[in-house]
Amino acid sequence: MKSPPPSSLVVRWQRQHGRNELPWQGTQDPYRVWLSEIMLQQTQVVTVRDYYARFLARFANVQLLAAAHLDDVLALWSGLGYYSRARNLHACAQRVMSDHGGTFPRSALELQTLPGIGRSTAAAIASLCFGERVAILDGNVKRVLTRLLGFQGDLASSANERQLWQFANDLLPRRDLARAMPRYTQGMMDLGATVCLAKAPHCNRCPLAAHCVARREGKPERYPVKTRKLRRSSQSLWMLWAQDSKGSVWLSQRPTPGVWAGLHCLPLFESLADLQASIPARQRGAVQELPVLRHALTHKDLYLHAVRVKLPATSTLALAGAWVSASQWAQLGLPAPVRKMLQTGGGA
Ligand code: ADE
Repeated sequence: MKSPPPSSLVVRWQRQHGRNELPWQGTQDPYRVWLSEIMLQQTQVVTVRDYYARFLARFANVQLLAAAHLDDVLALWSGLGYYSRARNLHACAQRVMSDHGGTFPRSALELQTLPGIGRSTAAAIASLCFGERVAILDGNVKRVLTRLLGFQGDLASSANERQLWQFANDLLPRRDLARAMPRYTQGMMDLGATVCLAKAPHCNRCPLAAHCVARREGKPERYPVKTRKLRRSSQSLWMLWAQDSKGSVWLSQRPTPGVWAGLHCLPLFESLADLQASIPARQRGAVQELPVLRHALTHKDLYLHAVRVKLPATSTLALAGAWVSASQWAQLGLPAPVRKMLQTGGGA
């Protein structure tokens, strides 16, 4: 293999052509950078922008976030998905307060000990905020590096992944780290997001094109090699939409672990018969079955069968949970499809 391309090409390219106006840039405050990195883990920049602004308006620093109720954090996260991120965010803020005196640790190794911060996220925070010489390796950067190096190893194997981490480290800047590392890290992210695209990459705009093995081979889309396919499953769930005469709905908190862990939700059942058994016998004939909603989670498709029933305000269901008025449930963390259904009255 050729000698590593100078990281300075990436640094220079980032300054001139990278993304430099994102709301979480222009700061080296680890709270802000951490929050943005967690939000960006599974969510696109366009979606994160608004959530990020709302979150900071409500929780301006780690002290305020640590002191918040988890329900309020989940409510602000509602619609972003992958709610374990929000639970870890809250737990992490509390750990920063209890174990680090309210100041984020500065090294990637220490950051990695905190809830929700994996190796790549820790490296992003440490390099962007503190100029540490550590490599990130998220999905986008894996694509950039495997192409650059012509890395044929299957990334489903952890030995190959370890080797790629090693390469990622070898390619890092060696000098002027305080200035170069934040640019390099952001540059690798930007290359992955705007140039080295999964399909039809813009190799003519890439600062690493002259060094790129995949480009020389003529088929950059071959990389990264990953054989293990995500096998999607599907599951049907019946969702009890019980409403009392005052318009309140019965909500219960989802167990952890499981689908929508920790969120407030209409009670879920694995069959219509189980759902029917949870409501008073007199009302069973009066249920209204709504059209099935498909909702995609990471590993499975949910088919949600909402079943609506009106109950007297005095009734109590033999289920965990409580009646919650519309003004209250609007404040709670609800799964996005459930919130939408309640808001639209089931007509959408
Ligand atoms: N994705 C992950 N981190 C990012 C960042 N700092 N800027 C843009 N996209 C990102």
